[in-house]
Amino acid sequence: MDLPHETVLILDFGSQYVQLIARRVREQHVYSEIVPHTITAAAIRKRAPKGLIFSGGPASVYTKDAPRCDPDILRLGIPILGICYGMQLGATLLGGQVKSAPAREFGRTTLHILRHEKLLADLPGEMTVWNSHGDQVDGISEDFIPIARTATCPVAAVKHRTTPFYGVQFHPEVSHTPQGPALLANFLTTICQCRGDWRIRAFIDATEADIRKKVGRAHVVCGLSGGVDSSVVAMLCHRAIGKQLHCIFVDNGLLRLNEAQSVEKTFRDHFKMDLIVADARQLFLDRLRDVVDPEKKRKIIGHAFVEVFREKARAIPGARFLAQGTLYPDVIESRSPTGAPSATIKTHHNVGGLPAELGFDLVEPLRELFKDEVRQIGLELGMPEDMVWRQPFPGPGLAVRICGEVTAQRLDILRKADAVVLDEIRKADLYRKLGQSFAVLVPVKSVGVMGDERTHENVLAVRAVETVDYMTADWARLPYDVLARISNRVINEVRGVNRVVYDISSKPPSTIEWE
Ligand code: XMP
Repeated sequence: MDLPHETVLILDFGSQYVQLIARRVREQHVYSEIVPHTITAAAIRKRAPKGLIFSGGPASVYTKDAPRCDPDILRLGIPILGICYGMQLGATLLGGQVKSAPAREFGRTTLHILRHEKLLADLPGEMTVWNSHGDQVDGISEDFIPIARTATCPVAAVKHRTTPFYGVQFHPEVSHTPQGPALLANFLTTICQCRGDWRIRAFIDATEADIRKKVGRAHVVCGLSGGVDSSVVAMLCHRAIGKQLHCIFVDNGLLRLNEAQSVEKTFRDHFKMDLIVADARQLFLDRLRDVVDPEKKRKIIGHAFVEVFREKARAIPGARFLAQGTLYPDVIESRSPTGAPSATIKTHHNVGGLPAELGFDLVEPLRELFKDEVRQIGLELGMPEDMVWRQPFPGPGLAVRICGEVTAQRLDILRKADAVVLDEIRKADLYRKLGQSFAVLVPVKSVGVMGDERTHENVLAVRAVETVDYMTADWARLPYDVLARISNRVINEVRGVNRVVYDISSKPPSTIEWE
């Protein structure tokens, strides 16, 4: 995107933290982008960044196939901050030496500042930092000035005498380095002289202009699921091109209580978008008949979704583009320098994703954004808060929360029970604190007693997890009284359930969903 703002480029040497660095820079209101470490000095010059950051990485600079970078990059005169491996590489390219540290440093260490150079200005003389390295810069040449040390690392931070190169052996981007944001702010403001005027508002304006330019007079279709990403995409496109946008919402019958109505109300009635609702409830139910294997369910749902979407999209005259909510982490994952994803590993493709054979050109206005930035845009554009802060909901919907066969009756039971769970979680003010919270219909009949009668009915499991990245998750310690209210209400209000259990498994080894 042609953005008229200052940029910092982050060269990715395979660090698991590379996305975190990008976010930390953006939090200082400086736009950042991650680029492969193979980028040339000429390509960087063309981008005219205000600064560069060399990320960490798992390699040792002395191994033969360690990732390197174009050495001319260090002669561009652009300020560089090397982090961990990035510091070692920069120091090596500038004639320093890297030795294997006698003591490997992992975890929290105390950093002692030797000189309050620009990078360390106004930081406490001693501070906690997070380390994760085996190699360290040692025996540095005269060209470098050590500016901080730890007990085992004499050169924990350096500055080059003549080139604007700074290096830190520790990780300022992780939350275990409490002064990390202050150090990055020093680098960005004092050393790179950034104004720090990147604001989400400017992004919105520039993105809308981009969409208009790309689309011209053509029409755009957008698959709306009611989730944050697709909703924000729809809103941005609608602001940019108004009636040329056509949203398609596939009601697959696997949604939560009142979900379809709420999407219609928000987007058609409130935002006045052209919303096409495809009522495909019966089709999905028919296709899912007798299917119990979770992966089969996913495949069937994915295919049916594409089929229904394609039919509706084809009926829109002049539609040439498809708007999609691809986020920056997805973009980065698909072009990691080592070939392996550096941070999160996606195990499930989103069934909302549409295949290229549909023949549309893509409009992906969120390609450069992280999830929290997408939420900020949603808020800025007046999206209802409960939509902005929605917990993720899997593409195959309630089908993977009904263990065993999906029938209209079982969907009905789960939908009602799930609504009770969410209602109580919201009333207890826990919804936003939890990564996900929902109900699962277990394929077990349990014996109970209601009045004088014995019952033989369904077991409902309640699942609530705390998580940051959904790759690992811990079961939430919900207060007993919340659990008690959920159990009471589900058993009293939902016919067909006579027992409620709480899932106390963490991921790994369990998963968040039951199927
Ligand atoms: P698991 O169950 O693997 O889930 O711990 C991790 C996250 O992925 C979501 N999930 C899915 N999302 N299609 C999706 O779009 C799927 O098939 C699917 N399966 C799981 C799950 O809700 C959680 O957020």
